[in-house]
Amino acid sequence: MASRESVDGAPAADDYRRLTAHLPEPVFVPLSGYTRLPEAEMLARAEAFHDAMQRRRTTRHFSSEPVPSRLIELAMRTAGTAPSGAHRQPWRFVAIDDPALKRELREAAEAEELKTYAERLTDEWREALHPLGTDHIKAHMTDAPWLVVLFAEKYGLRSDGSHRKNYYVDESVSIAAGLFIAAIHQMGLVTLTHTPSPMGFLRERLGRGVNEKPVLVLPVGYPHPEARVPDIARLAPEAFIQWNAPERPTGPSST
Ligand SMILES: Cc1cc2nc3c(=O)[nH]c(=O)nc-3n(C[C@H](O)[C@H](O)[C@H](O)COP(=O)(O)O)c2cc1C
Repeated sequence: MASRESVDGAPAADDYRRLTAHLPEPVFVPLSGYTRLPEAEMLARAEAFHDAMQRRRTTRHFSSEPVPSRLIELAMRTAGTAPSGAHRQPWRFVAIDDPALKRELREAAEAEELKTYAERLTDEWREALHPLGTDHIKAHMTDAPWLVVLFAEKYGLRSDGSHRKNYYVDESVSIAAGLFIAAIHQMGLVTLTHTPSPMGFLRERLGRGVNEKPVLVLPVGYPHPEARVPDIARLAPEAFIQWNAPERPTGPSST
């Protein structure tokens, strides 16, 4: 086990111990779920997972063929394995397959999106979206057999109504969303990361608390047999990966 001394060799802060003296001792258990793999198998798995994820595409054309609820549940449960700031787990998922509710949400989303596309988008934003060919018509919201709405719990509510702070909510919920999307892709379904703007109507209609903020609408299903996707490319690895730090400039220091 690593030393509990700080990097500069100073003893662990007495102040911290004093400030936490009233709290129960943290409880630890062995890391029993971990299996060490041979390096060749690690590489094979890493390549297979990367290849699979490279084939993921956001799909806007869905078949209405039904999908068992168990698959949706497993994707949500996978999302719920995400790491989170201070382990607050601030994600909440609502899965919808009720056709009347999907239609209602589609109508509400389209009313907002019509205003967004006609009035709210800046010229720069419109230009960025143009290659994707999207507009205010959101057929996926009724075509897809499932709509999964992801909410972020901005803060917890104690039984006495007081607020319990959550930490790194956006980061934690985004990681959960990524795991959900990966799980859906891995099981052979498709999804779309949809952000109807604004989306306050979701909280109201789905009966969620004032402490929750809708983040994403994720239609899930099989792709329509004639589904098409925008012809766009991903960044080359060199454009988004750096190894270590650049060389420090040599020569006399200016300070
Ligand atoms: C945070 C976020 C918001 C998005 N919002 C929308 C959206 O409202 N409507 C939509 O059609 N696509 C939306 N997308 C999907 C992106 O357009 C899509 O991921 C991107 O074009 C790359 O395509 P790919 O997912 O097929 O690689 C969103 C994606 C993210 C991550």
